[in-house]
Amino acid sequence: MAKKILVTGGTGYIGSHTVVELQESGYNVIIVDNLSNSSIDVLDNIEKISGIKPAFENFDLADKDKTEDFFARTPGIEAIIHFAASKAVGESVEKPLLYYRNNLVSLMNILECQIKFKVLNIVFSSSCTVYGQPEILPVTEQTPRKDAESPYGNTKRVNEDILNDTIAANSQLNAIALRYFNPVGAHPSALIGELPLGIPNNLVPFITQTAAGLRGELKVFGDDYDTPDGSAIRDYINVVDLAKAHVVSIKRLLTSKNKASYEVFNLGTGNGYSVLEMVNGFEKVTGIKLNYKIVARRAGDIEKIWANTTFANKELGWKAEKGLEETLLSAWNWEKNVRGIK
Ligand code: UFG
Repeated sequence: MAKKILVTGGTGYIGSHTVVELQESGYNVIIVDNLSNSSIDVLDNIEKISGIKPAFENFDLADKDKTEDFFARTPGIEAIIHFAASKAVGESVEKPLLYYRNNLVSLMNILECQIKFKVLNIVFSSSCTVYGQPEILPVTEQTPRKDAESPYGNTKRVNEDILNDTIAANSQLNAIALRYFNPVGAHPSALIGELPLGIPNNLVPFITQTAAGLRGELKVFGDDYDTPDGSAIRDYINVVDLAKAHVVSIKRLLTSKNKASYEVFNLGTGNGYSVLEMVNGFEKVTGIKLNYKIVARRAGDIEKIWANTTFANKELGWKAEKGLEETLLSAWNWEKNVRGIK
């Protein structure tokens, strides 16, 4: 029988791509999402890709009673992938308590239910934000974590600690924390992708919305960094590659005997690209000239970061495969589909 996997935040950006990859690998997926930053239509689009409409429940995992009730009437969950979280850095500075409540309380509720209902495995969405600006690049999983730049970043750091401590105290439980670098792009079908509410904070949605005419001009935040072209460098990873790493992590949790019960992996490509390289790459693959302007640095941004992927490649047997041009084109195809551009 297909193994049952709970995906929280499964109608969101990374969640929806992961649901598709899990289904295509033969898992039986149940999504829990409160649709605070996603749309119910995503379920139909998942079905168009995989042929299977995932089971879905709409509630807030920060609600302990609803979470317990869900686990009580949903036996047989073998593992959880916990994506559901608030993720806007700027908003977290304005509303820290909202972020601590949403992100910390939901994980704690899930872990308490895991213990109570004997659901032994969890994959947690963490972020390279826990490294801050590292002294040595590329960053390995042993690179020391730094104080977070925002309440959002702090929720990732504290949640890693909550997981680690809970796993240490409960010998049956296993967890994998995945530290994402910068997820970008969309499914090659252009049926699912990133759909930010309002003005995008992140670079690639801002680029595609500028190309689509929704934004007048892209602002490049800073050209005076200590990088070859002066703009900031990140490790942009295709969301489908990222989704596949979750499937591999689930398999590892369900089958691997000789692993540590709490593990951390960097999920990146190992390559850093500057903002201007992203702009030029987009112009090259789409043939569209982007209207952009160099402006001052954005507060809280780090200068450069990219992943050392050796540990993930070796231990997970996983590697990011898609190149930057294919990824940028997939982001553009998704934007065109959403906006009805031919
Ligand atoms: N950038 C621009 N113009 C824009 C948007 C972004 O120049 O309109 C630049 C940023 O300054 C940065 C790069 O593009 O140099 C990437 O910015 P993103 O906002 O796309 O991504 P970040 O690296 O800032 O954000 C990521 C994750 C967050 C995480 C954060 C921690 O998306 O979840 O890293 O630093 F919290």
